[in-house]
Amino acid sequence: MEDLKEKVGRVRELLHERNGLLLAHNYQRDEVQEIADVTGDSLGLSMEAARSDAEVIVFCGVHFMAESAAILSPDKKVILPRIEAGCPMADMVTGDDLREFRESNREHVVVTYVNSTAEVKAYTDICCTSANAISVVRHIPEDRKIFMVPDKNLALYVEKKSGRKLEWWDGYCPTHDRLTAEEVRKMKEAHPDAFVVVHPECRPDVVEMADHVCSTSGMYTYCRESAAKKFIIGTEMGILYRLRKENPDKEFYLASEVLICPNMKLTTIDDIIECLEGMKNIITVPEEIRVPAKKALDAMLGVPRDS
Ligand code: 13P
Ligand code: SF4
Repeated sequence: MEDLKEKVGRVRELLHERNGLLLAHNYQRDEVQEIADVTGDSLGLSMEAARSDAEVIVFCGVHFMAESAAILSPDKKVILPRIEAGCPMADMVTGDDLREFRESNREHVVVTYVNSTAEVKAYTDICCTSANAISVVRHIPEDRKIFMVPDKNLALYVEKKSGRKLEWWDGYCPTHDRLTAEEVRKMKEAHPDAFVVVHPECRPDVVEMADHVCSTSGMYTYCRESAAKKFIIGTEMGILYRLRKENPDKEFYLASEVLICPNMKLTTIDDIIECLEGMKNIITVPEEIRVPAKKALDAMLGVPRDS
């Protein structure tokens, strides 16, 4: 404990020296979320980084998130404490794959989930997040074909909710895709009065069983405002830390023990200290990729939420 206290003190000291801001995604280890200046979803954190006047951003998350922060804040140094913390779903499609698709499918509008590499975003017309994907798709003129990248589960959910016909890349999040409808059914049997809240990266038959489907940040709002007292949660287990902390009178059950993203669990306080001391693992995006990728992110930010 004394050791942890010392380490936390060292992180604060280094952040002060470097004019740094510590960001942690909602799936990070409890102790990392605890010391972060801001916790949130992937895009919310990148926007926080852009708004801040800090010179150094320590992004506790995975590679595409630090890239998004670097795209939006080219004047800041963005550190990813564990350089190997990647996202298998983001890596299921490459910039070359999407360039080839575009060359032979010029009539499509390409909508890319922010959980993607900077290179893929650079070949994108408009980005989306799990929170605004339906609004983004509805915003596209009716006569245009739409291709969604890389998450097929998100695309299936958006197609159903938006009423628009979509085509999509065959990618998926291995963590969310592991959760089965059978596991959710058993949890519902064990906790019949609990509401089921899941992320749209889950399989369609799991999404079908949910009382509410939303992004990680949407889950905090929904569970806080809901009159229900018990919730079965279908997303990465890191979300439970703040859900329980902010709602001590409510009960949260993880839908399945398989809901752990190994990449999200890599970052430790020691890694943060090491990177800040040596100014290591700075993520940069070449200008020829950053500029078109930012255009796709900016196009998304211009879409009204309820359109
Ligand atoms: P959000 O936090 O944007 O909902 O994303 C979920 C996720 O899988 C991030 O890796
Ligand atoms: Fe990628 Fe899924 Fe892990 Fe998020 S939870 S970082 S989408 S593998």
